Amino acid sequence: MPIRSIETVSIGFIGAGRLGKALAWSLATAGLAVRGVASSIEQEAVDLANRIEACEVMAAQAVVDRCDLVFITTPDSIIAQAVAPLRFRAGTGVIHCSGATEVDALASVQVQGAAIGGFHPMQTFADPDAAVASLPGSTITIEARDDELDRLLVQLVERLHCHVNRLPPGMRGRYHAAAGFTTQFINALFYESARVWKSWGAEEADAMRAMLPMAHGTLAAIESVGIARGMPGPVSRSDVVSVEKHVAALTDLGDDMAAFYRVLCGVTVRIARESGAVDADAAARFDAALTRGVPAAST
Ligand SMILES: NC(=O)c1ccc[n+]([C@@H]2O[C@H](COP(=O)([O-])OP(=O)(O)OC[C@H]3O[C@@H](n4cnc5c(N)ncnc54)[C@H](OP(=O)(O)O)[C@@H]3O)[C@@H](O)[C@H]2O)c1
Repeated sequence: MPIRSIETVSIGFIGAGRLGKALAWSLATAGLAVRGVASSIEQEAVDLANRIEACEVMAAQAVVDRCDLVFITTPDSIIAQAVAPLRFRAGTGVIHCSGATEVDALASVQVQGAAIGGFHPMQTFADPDAAVASLPGSTITIEARDDELDRLLVQLVERLHCHVNRLPPGMRGRYHAAAGFTTQFINALFYESARVWKSWGAEEADAMRAMLPMAHGTLAAIESVGIARGMPGPVSRSDVVSVEKHVAALTDLGDDMAAFYRVLCGVTVRIARESGAVDADAAARFDAALTRGVPAAST
């Protein structure tokens, strides 16, 4: 890929969904030239383009023809299919934004002489406007099969006030699974907690009003003193009796609820043991409380 300054690179998007909009708007706000967008639903592309000066809605082939750097921001399963019918000129940079998909999904582009890569922002893009606000300070995992493209992507990350991350080859499955623990699995934790609240007749809104400040407080503690020292709860106090009460109470609500609790609580015991917050004796008593009554095959 020829060396270009990010100031003069023209940027295009194929796919104007949640991430496409937020990223395009963020790049344009950072002063970069987002010039073209194509999406399967034209109105989505219009919504993206309307907020960027000199950005036009066009066919995917026109985006590729007119732009130097093309973001493929379709769903993961469509990436290879979206680029397959397109003709790329040598020197174009083409990148997808998937965390789990290997850059090889763009192999049909590379054989035409374009430089391929990945640009995965580690942030939640459920709402594009909220994502624009939360993107600065995030980490973006980049991968480039070309040194010039690599340099360009680093500059883009810095221009977005984000941090660069790189991955060893073959790690995308692990990496994306790890990200899930701190994104959608938080939704699962809130869901389970709200399910318990509903068991005594409370509404989800009641649970959320109570839980969100606690969750914010926990995140603040983790940010301040780290995962282990920022961990609240009975395990951190070597309080086995409370954990026994929890297991009994949740077992009344169903084996799935109790099983989920046992797994998560077991992880907190490991954290507390590794950090020295609980001793070996307390850890053994927690293990006993968490495995009591569980058939051997399912422990
Ligand atoms: N959302 C997140 O939190 C997040 C975070 C990090 C990375 N990502 C990555 O970002 C990428 C986009 O995800 P997203 O959440 O923005 O998905 P999305 O909201 O579903 O948006 C994808 C857009 O691409 C359009 N599209 C589908 N096929 C197309 C094609 N062949 N040509 C042009 N446009 C096409 C879709 O239109 P239709 O509605 O008609 O299908 C939709 O507007 C994915 O690779 C995802 O892994 C997402």
